[in-house]
Amino acid sequence: MQEPFRIKVVEPLRRVTREERERLLAEAGLNLFAVPAESVSVDLLTDSGTSAMSDRQWAGLMMGDESYACSRNFYHFRDTIRDIFGYPIVIPTHQGRAAEHLLFSSVLKSGDVVPGNTHFDTTRANIEHQGAEARDLVIDEGLDPSCLHPFKGNLDPLKLDRTIREVGRERVPLVMLTVTNNSGGGQPVSLANVRAVREVCDRHGVPLIFDACRFAENCWFIREREPGCAQRSVKVIARELFSHGDGCTMSAKKDALVNIGGFLALKNEGWAEKIRNLLILVEGFATYGGLAGRDLEAIAIGLTEVLDEDYLAYRVGQVAYLGGLLDEAGVPIVKPVGGHAVYLDARAFLPDVPQSQFPGQALVVALYREFGIRAVEIGSLMFGHRDPKTGEWVFPKLDLVRLAIPRRVYTNEHMRYVAESVIALHRERGRLRGLRIIWEAPALRHFTARLEELVRP
Ligand code: F0G
Repeated sequence: MQEPFRIKVVEPLRRVTREERERLLAEAGLNLFAVPAESVSVDLLTDSGTSAMSDRQWAGLMMGDESYACSRNFYHFRDTIRDIFGYPIVIPTHQGRAAEHLLFSSVLKSGDVVPGNTHFDTTRANIEHQGAEARDLVIDEGLDPSCLHPFKGNLDPLKLDRTIREVGRERVPLVMLTVTNNSGGGQPVSLANVRAVREVCDRHGVPLIFDACRFAENCWFIREREPGCAQRSVKVIARELFSHGDGCTMSAKKDALVNIGGFLALKNEGWAEKIRNLLILVEGFATYGGLAGRDLEAIAIGLTEVLDEDYLAYRVGQVAYLGGLLDEAGVPIVKPVGGHAVYLDARAFLPDVPQSQFPGQALVVALYREFGIRAVEIGSLMFGHRDPKTGEWVFPKLDLVRLAIPRRVYTNEHMRYVAESVIALHRERGRLRGLRIIWEAPALRHFTARLEELVRP
């Protein structure tokens, strides 16, 4: 589908030579988080905070009311969220992980377990920061990169029921459902699954909280794929989805089409007072939460724009276009293609590189060195850890490379360049080498780790 917008402002891309990229990689310790963005040709590191805002959103910035308390924009922000999500309590935060931090530090205690489909890295880290355990209970199909299940983000209700029974209700303060399931391949969760999860939660009296980062893309998939939903609007689907929950955290940097912002929304007052007190301590007053009035305005407008169905058809269509080109050429990708990214299956791409040598990161390094494309590893570098009891390395089931597509930023010609580059790399895959870590931080190591290439035997 053609882009449902025309381009009013452009940002030039610099040409970067292979020699320069080679030097930058060496300086960065083969970590793409340390490569200057100006030296990247197509930046697919993340779809987070990288959206192009619309003319209306830019106009909204000029309408910012920068009063400390109860600014006009807060009411627009709050009412838009109430309208779409249906949760009356709306707490702005400066981004998604701040909402997670506020929620988890207010409701978790050491030894608790938080079941979810697949927790994103910041969510997991924030849960673990409280001494609690983040437990991933995605359906088995979600762990098989080639299985064509339409809702591979679903949380397995049986596994959930078993988990709550095993650990005991008193140790499960909430269940977290991430839509779409980012770490599991950007895969959607169905309405039927949300209802089933809700039933299990009700049976045990456990609240259900959504991680709503990519809710519009998730609801688009529901409309496209779930029986009986084709005639419903994405907004109506979103209303139903969230009606089954007790609240949500959201990074507005995704489906609110802005460069910064987030929020926490709740159905009832239960946890809200404690959270607001903490908010004032660490983020800001309850009506701005670390954001400027103009940011709140841009979010309110973005949340409305993201539900435009021409936009969603184009958005999900562009990601599918890239995935289709790769799939046709025999490049192993996670299928079906998710909502915000195409995920390369690095273990299948580089079968000779064991997980202990970070096949995903090896691909990420080669993509940048050869083609100036920046992607992100979601695999053994991000999630690999030593078992605290045995000291053995534990690796995630999937080693993925995410090509995340910023919203409204790149054209399909950029997507074609990316596809041709990945296909060329796939042909040359025998030349790629594994990596080893030479320095790492104790938590979220993928952001700052330094690595080196292993010498071929
Ligand atoms: N939850 C999910 C599912 C996410 O994908 C992210 C961020 C967050 C929470 C945290 O939000 O960045 O605003 O603090 N994901 C980004 C990504 C970083 O690249 O996928 P944040």
